[in-house]
Amino acid sequence: MIALGCDHGGYELKEAIKQMLSEKRIEYKDYGTYNKKKVDYPEFALMVAESVKNGESQSGILCCGTGIGVSIAANKVPGIRAAAVSDVFTARATKQHNNSNILCLGGRVIGVGLALLIVEEWLNAEFQGGRHQDRINMISKIEEKYTGNN
Ligand code: RB5
Repeated sequence: MIALGCDHGGYELKEAIKQMLSEKRIEYKDYGTYNKKKVDYPEFALMVAESVKNGESQSGILCCGTGIGVSIAANKVPGIRAAAVSDVFTARATKQHNNSNILCLGGRVIGVGLALLIVEEWLNAEFQGGRHQDRINMISKIEEKYTGNN
């Protein structure tokens, strides 16, 4: 299951991604927003991040105007590695190296065509483990330092 969320700035991208996932018969859950009315992106970032955090979704895709606001908000949830991506190379690298579990896209930055290529590349890429896992463990240690969870 892929959790999807957006604000008004990412609404059109999220709808296009939904259509692509449906065509590929990939299961998703749409956490909104459901129209172009102005909303606050942290609410949607939190819903998607919690869905990934609690295991209901394997991964998530968030869209806002830049992809940055939703990534900053989602990354506040421990265990979330949300990557704001605007190119295909980074889409692959952030899965292979960072094991990113949420992809963030900017509806005011990239067009639908590129966004769909990025989503496809990210979904198909695989985490490479090894030294990259060691570095993710270091990130987890930073979270523990500031949340008191160890
Ligand atoms: C909304 O106007 C905009 O601030 C939001 O979509 C996003 O770009 C925030 O990072």
